[in-house]
Amino acid sequence: MRLERVAAYVPADARLADIGSDHAYLPVALMRRGAIAAAVAGEVALTPLRSAERTVRENGLDQRITVRLANGLAAIEPEDGITAISICGMGGETIRDILDSGKARLSGHERLILQPNGGEQPLRQWLMENGYRILCEEVLRENRFYYEIIVAERVGPVRYTAEELYFGPVLMQARSPAFLIKWQRILRHKQQTLSNFARARQVVPEERVQDIARQARWITELLA
Ligand SMILES: C[S@@+](CC[C@H](N)C(=O)[O-])C[C@H]1O[C@@H](n2cnc3c(N)ncnc32)[C@H](O)[C@@H]1O
Repeated sequence: MRLERVAAYVPADARLADIGSDHAYLPVALMRRGAIAAAVAGEVALTPLRSAERTVRENGLDQRITVRLANGLAAIEPEDGITAISICGMGGETIRDILDSGKARLSGHERLILQPNGGEQPLRQWLMENGYRILCEEVLRENRFYYEIIVAERVGPVRYTAEELYFGPVLMQARSPAFLIKWQRILRHKQQTLSNFARARQVVPEERVQDIARQARWITELLA
């Protein structure tokens, strides 16, 4: 379901680069449906690379999907004419670092479809600092985990507030049931952390206490 929701944000006839593709399920599924024109599946590690090659071969898509061993956006060559990049199933900081170190490979015309596992705030911060507007966001729950999908395109300067970077500007507006349940759960966790701090024998740095207290306050205001 997670990758199915990611697939929904890939524009029709896109030339997709799926970075950290692992099994290459996303580009293969999209190509089998005739939803994309071409794809590159990039992988930094050998075992998932072999897995991607196998999926592509077994589906008879060797001519349409190129599998490359590469670190991050180094999988993209100018002649690929990539129009959409998906980076899914990694921490938000890792996705941010992949985007940042691969900036030279971005034309600025690609749609980014990102599915971080945590670390959404630093990822949104990077998007803002690099002129990407967040067009769509989604929270979904699968196997008791919450996943976020962030879709962005470069449009020029954008400003998001600290709360928007924390919760997601689109998610905050939409207030979907999954989004609210996710934050109710996080609030309980923050409150538990604060009461653990209060009972801790060792002194917790005041800065850390204030940071968690501020997050708990933001979440309480959001849910009010
Ligand atoms: C948990 S898997 C996610 C696979 C798939 N994208 C998904 O969402 O189901 C993460 C994959 O990203 C790859 N990866 C991590 N860092 C990478 C990087 N810098 N460049 C390319 N691939 C990377 C890992 O080798 C791993 O196969």
